[in-house]
Amino acid sequence: MKNNAPQKNIVVLISGSGSNLQAILDACQNQHINASIKAVFSNKAEAYGLERARTSEVPAHSLDPKSFESREAFDRELMQQIDAYQPDLIVLAGYMRILSADFVRHYLGKMINIHPSLLPKYPGLHTHQRAIDAKDKEHGTSVHFVTEELDGGPVILQAKVPVFAEDDADELASRVLTQEHQIYPLVCQWFCDDRLVMKEGCAELDGNTLGKHGYAQD
Ligand code: GAR
Repeated sequence: MKNNAPQKNIVVLISGSGSNLQAILDACQNQHINASIKAVFSNKAEAYGLERARTSEVPAHSLDPKSFESREAFDRELMQQIDAYQPDLIVLAGYMRILSADFVRHYLGKMINIHPSLLPKYPGLHTHQRAIDAKDKEHGTSVHFVTEELDGGPVILQAKVPVFAEDDADELASRVLTQEHQIYPLVCQWFCDDRLVMKEGCAELDGNTLGKHGYAQD
């Protein structure tokens, strides 16, 4: 479903490979998302995602946390630089840094994250190994609005993958990534078409409040 909303500005934050960034760049390029990525920021200068941004002629910035006296000071500078691009949507795509409360509040309702587990299971790190250790039969990924609770904001969309007995964490991670490249651009598309909002702490799609696991397609 398309509407006539003006094109949105997206800013993406990364720390690593940026394969999700690439999926969103491609979806903007193919006009599946009614937006353009105005800038990419990383807290790691060597993040390969910065190369991906440059290849697409998107401004790529890195800020070194070691040059700041506190998390708050780092986030204040990041906020200023992000806001120069007048973003409608902030997309965390493998951004592996805890956010200060002010940063989260500043972008409340317009910042989304992808987390590699079926939230509320396994917030935090090492999600794939934790699913294997727990002998889970299924695992997956969740896109959610960002709130002050780490990986605790309202879920928008999840995708599940099977866990096989012989899986190691890398195999499982790559199966999950394949799904992430499908669902993250789709959620960005919903947001940029003004179909998705956060209201009273819940995610709402087309006026319908989404449940604990977000929009269920099955
Ligand atoms: C993705 O699997 C994403 O879910 C995860 O990092 C990976 C980044 O991959 N994010 C987190 O763990 C955030 N807590 P990418 O750099 O290739 O997009």
